Amino acid sequence: MTTFREIPFGRPWITDADRQAVMEVLQGHILTHGPQCKAFESEFAAFMGAGAHCVSVSSCMAALHLSYLHFGLGPGDEVLVPAQTHTATVHAVEWVGARPVFVDCDPATGNLTPEGIAAAVTPRTKAIGLVHFLGIPCDMAGIREVADRHGLKVIEDCALALGARCQGTHVGLFGDTGCFSFYPVKHITTGEGGMFVTRHPEVAAAVAKLRAFGVDRTHGERAVPGSYDVPTLGLNYRMSEMQAALGRSQLARFSENLEIRRQNFAALKQGLSQAPNMHVLDAGGPDFQSSHYCLTVVLEGDLKARRNDLVGRLNRAGVGTSIYYPQPVPRMTYYRNKYGYQAAAYPQAEAISDHSIALPVGPHLKAGDLDYLLQTFKAAVKETES
Ligand SMILES: Cc1ncc(COP(=O)(O)O)c(C=O)c1O
Repeated sequence: MTTFREIPFGRPWITDADRQAVMEVLQGHILTHGPQCKAFESEFAAFMGAGAHCVSVSSCMAALHLSYLHFGLGPGDEVLVPAQTHTATVHAVEWVGARPVFVDCDPATGNLTPEGIAAAVTPRTKAIGLVHFLGIPCDMAGIREVADRHGLKVIEDCALALGARCQGTHVGLFGDTGCFSFYPVKHITTGEGGMFVTRHPEVAAAVAKLRAFGVDRTHGERAVPGSYDVPTLGLNYRMSEMQAALGRSQLARFSENLEIRRQNFAALKQGLSQAPNMHVLDAGGPDFQSSHYCLTVVLEGDLKARRNDLVGRLNRAGVGTSIYYPQPVPRMTYYRNKYGYQAAAYPQAEAISDHSIALPVGPHLKAGDLDYLLQTFKAAVKETES
């Protein structure tokens, strides 16, 4: 019998260099509005690739909210969103007063499809709020074609998709805006934090003001210290200098992080390839490069009704798991009360919420953890089935 191991689902990867970067900021006196945020924005833009303009923000939800605010969406407008996503994708639409219209996903990837989106467009549709599910890139060529045909804005929720590419281009650069998250279990972390990305410099400039109260000039642009005007309504969605310093340090070693995830995902998927009654959500083909946030298995047949039993066995054996995401968003109480819920409209989103298990593939896995995880998973499936 293999010795017990504790393998968390996710764990931030913090090094001495990260700690040092934050300490250096604290040894100075500029804690916000400073050079770290500026440098993080330009380093992130360089990482994204040609044409990217970046605005650091306090979270991915803030970046999503700023996107809809900037484009002036509101009551009477509809935004197509996945039924299977984090609630932030949809809350951002709800907060500007527009109506989220939920669309079911592809069972192989968990993503929206161009066909599913096209079928849900109405004369009131103004935007598509898509998600690269678990870092698996959506079919952006197909989705862009639908968006262009109907004149729709495209807001890309890239919370789990740092490092994901579609035909060589980083996700977040296909739409009008791309929104990234640096929450602790994400690919890189700043504690809380996010990045707003766009190809349009004028959008980046306007959003930079919107995230800072709508103030018309930065500290460096003020002829008289403390003097400014406020031509528009705004919010405080800024990132601090400590967060930006941590983000820069994390981004500097991100390619190593991504490669570890890729290898762990491939080994785990291979190890599960003969397992009956389940399939793994994954990108289809070489044009779609996933960021491998986690490995999600969707249980089928007899096993699917016993998901929680299987999770219990895994957790008791020390294997951390999660569910992405625990309910289709339209089934969550707030949305169900407001718009009603018809399970039959979202069979794929329901299958993922109710019958899937997310397994860890991050750089926190130690040597031998993957073997233990696989052995434990197979034994737990056997016990669950017997
Ligand atoms: C798809 C998706 N969008 C948005 C968010 C929210 O990110 P943040 O916590 O940075 O607001 C999450 C968080 O997990 C997410 O999974």
